[in-house]
Amino acid sequence: MQKLDTFDMVLFGGTGDLALRKLVPALYRRHVAGQMGPSSRVLAVARTNLSREEYLAQIETTCRKHLSGEEFTEARWRAFAAQVDYVRVDVTDPQDFRKLRAALEGRDDATRVIFLSTAPSLFTLTCDNLAAADIVTPKSRVVLEKPLGHDRASADLINRSVGAIFAEQQIYRIDHYLGKETVQNLMALRFGNTLFEPLWRRGRIRHVQITIAEQLGVEGRGQFYEHTGALRDMVQNHLLQLVCILAMEPPTSSDPDAVRDEKLKVLRALRPIMGNAVQNKTVRGQYRAGAVSGQPVPSYLDEAGVAADSTTETFVALKAEIDTWRWAGVPFYLRTGKRMTARRTEISVQLKAVPFLLFRDTPVDKLVPNVLTLRIDPEHGTTFDFNVKVPGPVMQIGAVKSSFKYGDFFAERPNVGYETLLYDCMLGDETLFQRADSIETSWAAVDSVLHPEGGPLPVHGYTAGSAGPKEADALLQADGRAWRPLADEHTQDDKN
Ligand code: BG6
Repeated sequence: MQKLDTFDMVLFGGTGDLALRKLVPALYRRHVAGQMGPSSRVLAVARTNLSREEYLAQIETTCRKHLSGEEFTEARWRAFAAQVDYVRVDVTDPQDFRKLRAALEGRDDATRVIFLSTAPSLFTLTCDNLAAADIVTPKSRVVLEKPLGHDRASADLINRSVGAIFAEQQIYRIDHYLGKETVQNLMALRFGNTLFEPLWRRGRIRHVQITIAEQLGVEGRGQFYEHTGALRDMVQNHLLQLVCILAMEPPTSSDPDAVRDEKLKVLRALRPIMGNAVQNKTVRGQYRAGAVSGQPVPSYLDEAGVAADSTTETFVALKAEIDTWRWAGVPFYLRTGKRMTARRTEISVQLKAVPFLLFRDTPVDKLVPNVLTLRIDPEHGTTFDFNVKVPGPVMQIGAVKSSFKYGDFFAERPNVGYETLLYDCMLGDETLFQRADSIETSWAAVDSVLHPEGGPLPVHGYTAGSAGPKEADALLQADGRAWRPLADEHTQDDKN
């Protein structure tokens, strides 16, 4: 692993849910891995009036909660905390940025990573105030957390205004799914093995299913979620990024733009979902009271910050199609939901049936489809479903599964996705970050679903702890298919 130059990580939104739950623990892991030299610093920034000690107490509590007992030790914590500071800044007040400037005095030669983990509506103002306070140096990079805007027009505006302060190579639009080991493994699998290449096309693949199911609800983020919903929160970014990696043509090199160009081509080839297609190809749902892992949970409508008559979707299922020679006619079924029966993020690729059933005059009348499943969370690995002969005198076919689990071969490093990406952006590697054109194209793909011509689509209730609304099942039944079950013997509860 490459050694990092001295850096300052300026973390806006330092007291927010994302910082406390994922970013600070990820930085702690970087520190433990020896990638935060003694003169590098984390400068958390937020509006709350806190002393450094109060902030450290807050992040200590959340790190203890989100890091395993093995990872969190007193000695490591003390060493990490010594490099963390807190600056109170109200981003709407240009004067406050002087305090930040003072905290960075004499450190303009260090790599400066400015992470905006705030509402996207504050990105422009924050960047303007950073520039006015002379905080943007040639070695600065700005990281923009998703969702980048709330539709194509607002994303475009952000890209232009942030682009007026930072050069495109200094802008890192982050999607933590791209930092997950198992997502990156999809590239290794596709482009590191000859086995998959001949299969990876319409002649061999019947359909693809991508699922991101969570057991969590809105976790105190009701106010944010009300104006976001699953389409903006999960489809525009995470799900479409998974589609891109799965469907892109092999890039000509691992150069960041070679990879990002190929991903962009996939987004551009997505068949627009508009007119009647919105109704026929998409399903929106919202959870009602129920139980998840045996624990009763309230309805979305009873969550704090949520309107009693809210129509915000907490579940989406849709059928995407990619109009290219490789993928024409292969549906990509996508679904994501909160408060589902199990936590499961997986991509499954179902291959076509054999041309005819050879086993005439035997009890064999059907075969299971060959399915390659990439398990992203909470298990890490792949499984392959195929058919074998059942031992015995008669020809009988049995369905079996071949599995690869990361943990069986490698020491697994805890990684929610941000660890890798933080490292990459400190290093200056943009491969796993999104360019402005890709963000705008993926917004264009969901805009027509967000605002259908005939007015908003109904939102179907589903019981918390279920697999989503029955209308989502009907979406696949219409094509003679079914979603893969969410729970099986491997299923673990959501601990995030
Ligand atoms: C975030 C969403 O981007 O991803 C959250 O804003 C969601 O609503 C989270 O819970 C899921 O990420 P992961 O890594 O836990 O699957």
